[in-house]
Amino acid sequence: MEAFRVYRQYPYYYEEWITLSDGSVVFVRPIKPTDGPLLLNFFNSLSRETIYFRFLTHLEKLQPEMLKQLVEIDYETHFALAAIVTEDTKESIIGTCRYIVKGNSDHAELTVVLGDNWQRKGLGKLLVTRVVNIARSKGLASIEILLDYRNEGMKRIFASLGYPVSYEPSILDIADRMEILLQEIKI
Ligand SMILES: CC(C)(COP(=O)(O)OP(=O)(O)OC[C@H]1O[C@@H](n2cnc3c(N)ncnc32)[C@H](O)[C@@H]1OP(=O)(O)O)[C@@H](O)C(=O)NCCC(=O)NCCS
Repeated sequence: MEAFRVYRQYPYYYEEWITLSDGSVVFVRPIKPTDGPLLLNFFNSLSRETIYFRFLTHLEKLQPEMLKQLVEIDYETHFALAAIVTEDTKESIIGTCRYIVKGNSDHAELTVVLGDNWQRKGLGKLLVTRVVNIARSKGLASIEILLDYRNEGMKRIFASLGYPVSYEPSILDIADRMEILLQEIKI
């Protein structure tokens, strides 16, 4: 019964095949509750710098409780896409992008992370674009991204997307903050 409930909720219409700038073919789909092992392998493959840029802390391990929260999502207040490659019939997650609505509001936080070998091929921009559009289509008003001030990749993605973005540099040395007003996006 539980499996049926999850299957019914899973928004298969966000699944797509994409080709990256280096010619690699990647499958992008919403995260499923069964993705725990794939997501753990993905986390364990990331460099310290990538983990720091994603979590804004030197997270050593992904604890089971956190892993569960990252895969058991409702696709409404918490939505996540995973990018997947298959090598010798073995699937691996190579990137994820998600938004999580804050409390009982129409405001969400977006995070994105790619495996170190998969950065700078256009995948980050693609996943961010998809998740921002999904958040917009669900009527959310705004989305924020917390980032380290040295995170040029994230700044470049948002500069090139042309979204209405406000940028607040950190005051307490924790993180800079970008906010996008979703309903004001014209493209
Ligand atoms: C930030 C991140 C998501 C960017 O994704 P990506 O796939 O590497 O970026 P893309 O290839 O889509 O590049 C998008 C643009 O940013 C530029 N860019 C990407 N990384 C860059 C970097 N380190 N320095 C300067 N420019 C960079 C690209 O040249 C590209 O510019 P263009 O659109 O003008 O051609 C990825 O590097 C990552 O996972 N970083 C670690 C986690 C993180 O920082 N998450 C953000 C906070 S939640």
